Amino acid sequence: MALVNEHFLKLKSNYLFSDIAKRVEKFTSENPDKKIIRLGIGDVTRPLPQASIEAMHRAVDDLSRSETFHGYGPEQGYDFLREAIVEHDFAPRGVKLAADEVFVSDGAKSDTGNIGDILERSCSVGVTDPVYPVYIDSNVMSGRAGDMLSDGKWSNVTYFPCTAENDFCPALPTGQVDIIYLCYPNNPTGTTLTHEQLKRWVDYAIAHNSIIIFDAAYEAFISRSEVPHSIYEIEGARRVAIEIRSFSKTAGFTGVRCGYTVVPKEVIATTADGREVQLNGLWNRRQCTKFNGASYITQRGAAAIYTPEGRAQVLETIGYYKENAAMMRSGLEAAGFTVYGGVDAPYIWLKTPDGMGSWEFFDRLLHEVNVVGTPGVGFGPSGEGYFRLTAFGRHEATAVAMERIRNWKL
Ligand code: MLT
Repeated sequence: MALVNEHFLKLKSNYLFSDIAKRVEKFTSENPDKKIIRLGIGDVTRPLPQASIEAMHRAVDDLSRSETFHGYGPEQGYDFLREAIVEHDFAPRGVKLAADEVFVSDGAKSDTGNIGDILERSCSVGVTDPVYPVYIDSNVMSGRAGDMLSDGKWSNVTYFPCTAENDFCPALPTGQVDIIYLCYPNNPTGTTLTHEQLKRWVDYAIAHNSIIIFDAAYEAFISRSEVPHSIYEIEGARRVAIEIRSFSKTAGFTGVRCGYTVVPKEVIATTADGREVQLNGLWNRRQCTKFNGASYITQRGAAAIYTPEGRAQVLETIGYYKENAAMMRSGLEAAGFTVYGGVDAPYIWLKTPDGMGSWEFFDRLLHEVNVVGTPGVGFGPSGEGYFRLTAFGRHEATAVAMERIRNWKL
């Protein structure tokens, strides 16, 4: 008899963003005349960089001729992209990587969800709280998270609260945590860690033989020099950290799908009997079995962002979203809200007024001013009383949303 993986039954029935989409759909079907502004899921609105579009057109032409046709590509990604990543994303920051430490994929979400495949199920997990739900849900699915407790936390997960009280800087664990997920610039709070703060995590991981899964999907939004772009800027990180990046928010690839994971060869974990194993080889093995590579067209489009034209176009788009973020920060502050993030990240994290619950704020914002955001508690217990808005909207719509919020009689 086939039995189900019962760990799936422990999950809430809907993924956070599907849940929100359903509520919004219900509202729009009941109120078809209302003009909704969506600042909920972090989906981009600007078109792809022209350099990527042209490269993808050329790639389509390549596929039309037998001499330049490409069938299955390397599971790890084409060398032209892996080499461009090493040269442009890491070398200028003094980070030396080999191209075979980079694994191109169909996006950071898949990689953050899949990376747990290569680590033992009994490992303990630690996450900042609030947190991108994929880290938790994927560990629930594999049985690593344990059981849901009455406070909404999972029994085998250590939570590092990040709230205004600790300036969104998570405290180190007091005991052993084997797998630590860090996302900086942070989704959802939009806050960052300095080199010094991140170094404490790297030192902890070295001292405890832990592995850090470092999600740097929002790296392109960093403005301030004290904020590291890569965890490998921190001494020792090559021994303990796997870094995951995305072309989604950098180059508008949310629908195209492309990202990559860096697994340096020094990153080691041990078997139960103490044998040391390189995670680079295990991830390679996992990808070769379960993944056939991102498409040739996609990878050509991604590589084009590293050309001079592509870089300029990406910078312009990131600048566009950052202008939104600045407009949102000032608009929300003028409306009396306390806001965080939005300087080195495309997310604005605001405190709900008078201790209002995150979901109540969501409902009122949707029903009273027709703006969609994301309830902070959807990202974890410490997100209660907070709310996330994204800067990925169009300028005009974002400005209208701010005006509606300013005039809102809350
Ligand atoms: C978000 O809104 O948190 C992100 O868009 C989700 C994602 O990147 O998967």
